[in-house]
Amino acid sequence: MSEEPQNNLNRAILQTLESLHAAGVQQLAKPPAAPPPPASSLQQAGTPAPASLLPSTPAPLSALTLNDLQTEVAACTLCEELATTRTQTVFGVGNPQAKLCFLGEAPGADEDRLGEPFVGRGGQLLDKILAACNLDRQDVYLLNILRCRPPNNRNPTEQESQNCRQFLERQLQLIAPEFICCLGAVAAQNLLSTTVTIGRLRGKLHDYRGIKVVCTYHPAYLLRNPSAKKETWDDMQMLMREMGTPVGE
Ligand code: URA
Ligand code: URA
Repeated sequence: MSEEPQNNLNRAILQTLESLHAAGVQQLAKPPAAPPPPASSLQQAGTPAPASLLPSTPAPLSALTLNDLQTEVAACTLCEELATTRTQTVFGVGNPQAKLCFLGEAPGADEDRLGEPFVGRGGQLLDKILAACNLDRQDVYLLNILRCRPPNNRNPTEQESQNCRQFLERQLQLIAPEFICCLGAVAAQNLLSTTVTIGRLRGKLHDYRGIKVVCTYHPAYLLRNPSAKKETWDDMQMLMREMGTPVGE
């Protein structure tokens, strides 16, 4: 398995290029050699740059490691209500080079208390689903659309999802998975920027910037509607088949 880090790096580079392309970048120019400083420099040290030279939009997040990104997330106050009501941010957990990520909606009470995604009742069901696929938490990576718990577990607002999107995208770039499994409508609709229902998104493969995406029901929904477990098992079988490690066939 000594090729894994290289493959991971290649996927990371490819995904970065794909996201630049999605953002409209058509070509990458080699940066010109820095010109020598002018003899009489107009901008003296300590003089602020004119506003016209400052970037008008925030630079994309450039954290180089998941640890650095986690530190940025822990200090985030973009969503005032969430930042003032959370116990802690819930970043993500698992194998930082995972081939497969599971994407949920937002931390609940247990996750807010423990700082880890999917540790409540839904998480226990997720563990069983993983086990049925011959996987455990250390094989995959678990993360959410939001990194803070919405009060009373309400759905994320559009603004909250937007605020957290930069973290989600950077986190996925750094992990560079080949597959994402979206758990529930909020995760699936947010990631894929669609309003199509989870019932219609499930059962087929989707694409997110070159990453294959499978959508299925949220474990909390399965706890309330056990008869839907059959469909989730169908979705997991499709996912495992695509990954080259079929189960239950
Ligand atoms: N539900 C989610 O969507 N994510 C969690 O982390 C926990 C419960
Ligand atoms: N509605 C949701 O939001 N999620 C599900 O998993 C199923 C129905």
